[in-house]
Amino acid sequence: MTPGFVETFELSEKRAFDGQPLRFTGAGIWLPLPLDIVASFIATLRRAEVWSRLGPRPKVLDAGAGDGRLVAGLCAAATEVRVFGIEHDENLARLAEDNLRRLTALGLPARWTTCEGDYLSLSTYEELGLGFADVDLFLNYPDGSEHALASLIAEHGRPGARLALVTPDHTLRVDALELEEELQIERPSGAPSFRLVLHRAP
Ligand SMILES: C[S@@+](CC[C@H](N)C(=O)[O-])C[C@H]1O[C@@H](n2cnc3c(N)ncnc32)[C@H](O)[C@@H]1O
Repeated sequence: MTPGFVETFELSEKRAFDGQPLRFTGAGIWLPLPLDIVASFIATLRRAEVWSRLGPRPKVLDAGAGDGRLVAGLCAAATEVRVFGIEHDENLARLAEDNLRRLTALGLPARWTTCEGDYLSLSTYEELGLGFADVDLFLNYPDGSEHALASLIAEHGRPGARLALVTPDHTLRVDALELEEELQIERPSGAPSFRLVLHRAP
């Protein structure tokens, strides 16, 4: 991971919501992805050769970007990728921007753009300078809106756009998209296991 990554997001968890590990936001629940999962999720995407399915210079969106950890992890790990993040909660959106700026000053490739907004509203994507149909891969750590997001992708996404859910729920599927692949995310033994559930727009 990039210099300062772990320190930045450990501190960030303490700064967000007075250090509460889980909070209801205006749109869902903020529960930060464990930092070891950020790294192993990205390693799983690489191992499964998901990048080669997306074409050159893919555009990736973290839908519900929280404090920006997945956006930062992807900028650090995946070359050529352009990473976007949308977060509904004003304070988290600001925190994500602060974290990403700090890491960029420490050498993180500046391939990210984030904004405050609703990822279920097409107008939010315009603020990012991004068409909804330009997104090749949507990421989501589900907190209740994953089915609505999948329906939006089925209706307005580009054919072949992917939705990758990173989840401890081994039964979670979305009906609006085709299930493409399910992969185990490796973790230190004893930690709750997570899966990467990859869906595809027809
Ligand atoms: C489970 S947290 C995951 C945060 C981050 N992706 C991570 O991995 O640490 C889900 C986040 O999605 C945000 N969220 C939920 N629905 C949203 C929506 N419709 N638009 C924007 N953000 C949303 C919540 O505010 C919360 O911060």
